[in-house]
Amino acid sequence: MAATHPSPPLKLTSVKALAESPGLSSIPSLYTFPKHTNDEVFSDTEESIPTLDFSLLTSPNTDERSKAVQELRKACQDWGFFMVTNHGVPESLMKAIIQASGEFFELTEEEKRGFEGKHVLDPIRYGTSFNASVDKILCWRDYLKIFQHPEFHSPNKPPVFREIAAEYSRKVRQVAKEILRGVSESLGLEDDYIDKALNLEQGLQVLAANLYPPCPQPELAMGFPAHSDHGLLTLLIQNQIGGLQVQHKGKWVSIDPIPNSFLANIGDHVEILSNGKYKSVLHRAVVNNRDVRISIAMPHGPALDAVVSPAPKLVEDERNPPAYRAMKYKDYLELQQTNMPNGKSCLESVRKYM
Ligand code: OGA
Ligand code: NI
Repeated sequence: MAATHPSPPLKLTSVKALAESPGLSSIPSLYTFPKHTNDEVFSDTEESIPTLDFSLLTSPNTDERSKAVQELRKACQDWGFFMVTNHGVPESLMKAIIQASGEFFELTEEEKRGFEGKHVLDPIRYGTSFNASVDKILCWRDYLKIFQHPEFHSPNKPPVFREIAAEYSRKVRQVAKEILRGVSESLGLEDDYIDKALNLEQGLQVLAANLYPPCPQPELAMGFPAHSDHGLLTLLIQNQIGGLQVQHKGKWVSIDPIPNSFLANIGDHVEILSNGKYKSVLHRAVVNNRDVRISIAMPHGPALDAVVSPAPKLVEDERNPPAYRAMKYKDYLELQQTNMPNGKSCLESVRKYM
């Protein structure tokens, strides 16, 4: 099978190269998704996602902090997604990492292919779609995924990438740790519960740069199909071109990019740890026919060898038995990353039915 006998590296065509082919006016059938435009889509002015003021969450004033924790709880319960403002990460650094990622995608096809990983857990992995050797439909997306923690990795091209990624990742990790501390507290757990139980000292942090080139038939293609994120907390930024949609109350809501803020969402492992009190939320990225869109998603997860299960304190009540099986994060990640996202099917596989 594919996993035990790796096939020779596939000669990938990037979506970037495809999109730039002269006179492209329709997309190859391999990129055609089952119709999704009939889904009703709402703009976030009708349903606006919550905002977390990070400076209040980290405030020495206990009233301010506890108010922020309450707001965080509400955001996790109602949406699973929220904007993060006043986070202290310099805007110039956010722009620099988007710029450097754009420069990576500008390398020649041959240079980029040098960073193609062989296994889904390789620390540097450039590719197109998800796992182009198994995907049945291809996504209108090229990507670069790099492990930033517990060990830092970087492609050696473009030359500026390493230093910017190191600085950006270090700063974003601090923001993620503080938010997870708030999430812990908001669940009625010790504020360092997640940190300790999942060994965040060795926690996985991935920089996932997504490139969505303009697409001549955006209504037929999909940048990133509906999925939930595997880790605990993802912090995403983008180049001011929209495309992200979040499922809320059964409808897709388009989220407009807001400068100088992070878009945060909780992942499957918060759902497992909280025994379903907080749910990871489906989201997807659609494409457009005008602008190149770049997003940088940073999932923060447990340590790869941490075994995650519902927090004992949240399942001690007989009416609230554990709803998820314990599973090693690494095994979950491997399962989730091998195939194209299919809603929350991966999380469903660790759910216990009673
Ligand atoms: C992701 C993701 C959406 C986007 O990388 O997990 O959901 O807007 N990306 O690029
Ligand atoms: Ni995602």
